[in-house]
Amino acid sequence: MASRHDGDTWDLASSVGATATMAAAARAMATRSDPARIDDRFAEPLVRAVGVDLLTRLASGEAAPGDLVEQVWIDVAKVRTRFYDGFFRESALPQVVILGAGLDSRAYRLPWPAGTLVYEVDRPEVLEFKTRTLAGLGAEPTAERRVVAADLREDWPAALSGAGFDPGQPAAWSAEGLLGYLPPEAQDRLLDTVTRLSAPGSRLATESRPSPRPGDDERTKAGLDRISGRWREQSFDTDMARLRYYGERNEAAPYLTARGWVVRGSTVRELLATHGLAPLADDDLRTGDVRYVSGVLPRMSCPA
Ligand SMILES: C[S@@+](CC[C@H](N)C(=O)[O-])C[C@H]1O[C@@H](n2cnc3c(N)ncnc32)[C@H](O)[C@@H]1O
Repeated sequence: MASRHDGDTWDLASSVGATATMAAAARAMATRSDPARIDDRFAEPLVRAVGVDLLTRLASGEAAPGDLVEQVWIDVAKVRTRFYDGFFRESALPQVVILGAGLDSRAYRLPWPAGTLVYEVDRPEVLEFKTRTLAGLGAEPTAERRVVAADLREDWPAALSGAGFDPGQPAAWSAEGLLGYLPPEAQDRLLDTVTRLSAPGSRLATESRPSPRPGDDERTKAGLDRISGRWREQSFDTDMARLRYYGERNEAAPYLTARGWVVRGSTVRELLATHGLAPLADDDLRTGDVRYVSGVLPRMSCPA
C-alpha cells in the first residue's frame, strides 16, 4: 500500500476511508457491550454495508474481539462517543458542522433542537455511501442534514458556504478522529479556517494530541503494524501505520487558545477512569495522553 500523498482518494473500504469503518465497528461493539453508555444503532448496519468481512463480523458480534481488537479500542469508542454526543447536546447552536464525518450518524440519532442545520463534510464517496445506505434502512435525519462533499486539504469553505453555511451565526464544529489524518500544515489551516468562519459564541470539539517525543512515532508505527498484521491474517489487508501523518505538529488545544478559543478538556486516561473503565496497559500509541477538548469563542462583552 502506498503512503499518503497530496490528492489521494479513498472509499470506506480503503486507505483512510477504512478508518471511518473501523471507528464505526468500534461503536457497534461498544453499543452491544454497553448500551447504557452508548447507543449508535446505525453503526452496525453501516459497517455491514461497507462489506469488509472482518469488520462486519466484529461489528455484528459474529467474531469476538478476542485479540483481533484490543478492549481499549471499544472503551475509547465509549468515552469518545459520549464526549462528542455531550458536546453537541450542550451546544444547542443552530448550525453544526461535522468535519471528516465518516460513518458518524449523529444527524440521524441525536435529538437536535428544531431548525438545526447539520453540515457533514467528507469525501464524496464517503458521504454518498452513508446517505444511500441510511436511506435504504429507512432512517430519517433528526435535523436538516446537508452533505458537503469536499476534501479538507482543499477549498472546503467554498463548498460549505455553497451548502448554505452562514459564518455570521454561531456554529458547533467537530473534528473527531480526523486531525492525525491531515498533514500538520493542513491541520493548522483547518483550525485557522474554522476560527475564521466562527461567529462569537461558536463551539468546537476535537482531540489534542501531545507532540511526539523522540521514539514515539516509531513505537506508534510498530503498534499499528502489529494490529495490521493480525488483521491481514483475517484477510483484511490494511496498513494502518501508513494512513497517518507523523512528525512535529502543533497541539490543537494551545493552538486554539492562541486564536481566542477558551478551551477545556480531559485526557482519555482521565475519562476512562471517570467512567470506571479499565486503564490502558501498553500504550504504544499514547492514546491515554490524547485530550478530548471543547472550546468556545467568547461573545464580545458590552462596554460598561
Ligand atoms: C477515523 S475517520 C473518523 C470518522 C468520524 N469522525 C468518526 O469519528 O467516526 C476519519 C475521517 O476523516 C475523513 N477525512 C480524512 N482526511 C480527509 C480529507 N482530507 N478530506 C475529507 N475528509 C477526510 C475520512 O474520510 C474519514 O471519514
